Amino acid sequence: MRLDRYLAECGYGTRGEVKRIIGKGQVEKGGRIATDPGAHVLPGEPVSVMGREAVRKGPVYLAMNKPPGYVSATEDRGHPTVVSLLDQGEYGHCGLFPAGRLDLDVTGLLLLTNDGPFAHRLTSPRKAVPKTYVADLSERLGQAGAEALPRGLTLGDGHQTAPAMVWEMGGRRVALRLTEGKYHQVKRMFAAVGNNVERLVRVGVGGLWLNLGGLRAEFGPAGEASWGLGGAALDLGDMAIGTYRDIGTAGMEAALDG
Ligand code: URA
Repeated sequence: MRLDRYLAECGYGTRGEVKRIIGKGQVEKGGRIATDPGAHVLPGEPVSVMGREAVRKGPVYLAMNKPPGYVSATEDRGHPTVVSLLDQGEYGHCGLFPAGRLDLDVTGLLLLTNDGPFAHRLTSPRKAVPKTYVADLSERLGQAGAEALPRGLTLGDGHQTAPAMVWEMGGRRVALRLTEGKYHQVKRMFAAVGNNVERLVRVGVGGLWLNLGGLRAEFGPAGEASWGLGGAALDLGDMAIGTYRDIGTAGMEAALDG
């Protein structure tokens, strides 16, 4: 394989960007500084960039319990990004980005990947992969809200929401499962029924599920059954906030299996 393509597949950027790195003399191939982007990398031949071994990685799928105060982006001027939480030695050159986004204050399940088509499927409105949230509201949901959310309602900007599943978990805590992901959608849906989200956590993406603080037990068996959270779901357990783990292709498939 050509050196420029090899480095691009290691996550060092586009072929053009990789050529610039080679031009700066930062790449070694077989123990010597490489100057030719078209040179062939032989099987097993060591390649390094600025002294660090360049390893070709396949697609990577990480599940993170996003902490508050982190932006779901690869770069930001004002706040730290979720990507900055990753071990740079292990993932710094994989080209990972968040597949979808959670607001700055929102916590819970966020997937990071370098698989563009997967991210597209996960977030595309046409694929309608369900996302499950647990919201602590300022008021009890009440009957009007409990009826309006499953029916679909009109947001402030005129958008008509698709029907959502609602599960009242007791007190002011409500779970909501949606198949759309418009800007601030959950907060705006509760605002449309005269309520306010005080705390929002995403607990499920497709068939992937975070069981934060044993939250799943709050659904009870009836809730689990009606939400399809039983057998088929891949339970990531109670991941500490700010941590992440590699979920591999099995996790990727579970996320798309809603
Ligand atoms: N809905 C919101 O309002 N915020 C999020 O981060 C996700 C869904």
